[in-house]
Amino acid sequence: MSGRSSGSVDKKIDYQQALRDVARSMVRLRKPDRLLKLIARFIDRQFGLRHTALLVHESSKQRYVFVDSKGTGRVPVGLIKFDADHPLIQWFSVSREKTPFHQDYLLLADIRKNLNKAHFRLAIRSRSDDLVKVQRTMGMLKVDLVIPGYFKNDLVGILMLGSKLSGKPFTMQEIFFFQTLAHDCSMAIKTSEYNQSLIEKNRELERRLTEIEKLRYKEQQTYYEIIRSLAEEVEAKEPSVYGHVSEVEKLGMMTARELGLDLAGRNKDILSAALLLHDVGKIGIPDNILTKPGHLTPEEWAVMKTHVEKGAKILEPLSDFKKVREIILSHHERFDGTGYPRRLKGEAIPIEARIVCVVDSFHAIVSNRCYREGRSIETAFLELESCAGTQFDPVVVDAFIRVLKKEMAEGNVTASSLQH
Ligand SMILES: [Fe+2]
Repeated sequence: MSGRSSGSVDKKIDYQQALRDVARSMVRLRKPDRLLKLIARFIDRQFGLRHTALLVHESSKQRYVFVDSKGTGRVPVGLIKFDADHPLIQWFSVSREKTPFHQDYLLLADIRKNLNKAHFRLAIRSRSDDLVKVQRTMGMLKVDLVIPGYFKNDLVGILMLGSKLSGKPFTMQEIFFFQTLAHDCSMAIKTSEYNQSLIEKNRELERRLTEIEKLRYKEQQTYYEIIRSLAEEVEAKEPSVYGHVSEVEKLGMMTARELGLDLAGRNKDILSAALLLHDVGKIGIPDNILTKPGHLTPEEWAVMKTHVEKGAKILEPLSDFKKVREIILSHHERFDGTGYPRRLKGEAIPIEARIVCVVDSFHAIVSNRCYREGRSIETAFLELESCAGTQFDPVVVDAFIRVLKKEMAEGNVTASSLQH
């Protein structure tokens, strides 16, 4: 072999140190192919062999392939593949426990010597033919020593070594060293395969979760659209309030920004949905109550009040809209704790619900109804201020009046757009 001195053949090898180096490499290298190449190079350099080859099980195709080969008699890696029923593979796998000749290595010199002995051939009986085939394979590959590597009882690979350049036979110490090496490599390969399969399983799991998440999102969006059309239907029942919810949404968003609420990401969608859907529960209120001109009787009023719970119920299947449900459920709570349905008080009422309450009431005061004319914006402001601290959160009332005045002064909102 080029560049190899005959002196390297006989040099002393610190086997323990070499195994420690290999163990370190196993920890460092995640891909076993690189480790095996390293091992082949190490053996080739340290032991002065004609060649070194590594045959490894390819679990995806149930066969054994050469992953690396070094030296003058190197095997063309990728061209020679052994199926599971190849005599060499068979020798070290299924039949290895069933014969007296079951050492965990094979020396070509031993095979030749033993096959010439009649009592040996008799002892291994039918295995004699198999051993002849193994001998032929080793001869063809110019291999003097083969060492199998196992993980539990599975044959993971075979270390195939050519003769020494020095012509000397392999010592038992060297054979033990190669056996330990083959065992350690088998463990490294199996561990890596196991890790790889875990990584692949995790990837598959993540992919499926993403798909489920996408489907769930799509389903929720569809349901949301259905609820939106339900809300529009509620409005359609009362032609005089048409456009109310979209105005309430606009005014509510404006007030939230004025209050400095965090409207990043989903927060904006949550508030917007709550403002648009706050009265969706009215779909469950009988028309004779919902569209009744004039005052409701106490019994009718009790039925009307249930629209908050009905609205929350409608939104129940939307897990993404949990917060929206809470806002809808709380939009008729009063700041002083006398509202419905849970008599929540002050800051126990979600801020978004306090906003809905103010802008919904404001818009109801100023807009025209079939049974009365809408009142002026100034009147509505006075009414909100008079109820600040009792029905409404004074901070929200302040912010709402301030921002609406500003928007009107800038011409972004007009009295006629609010009162149509
Ligand atoms: Fe309401």
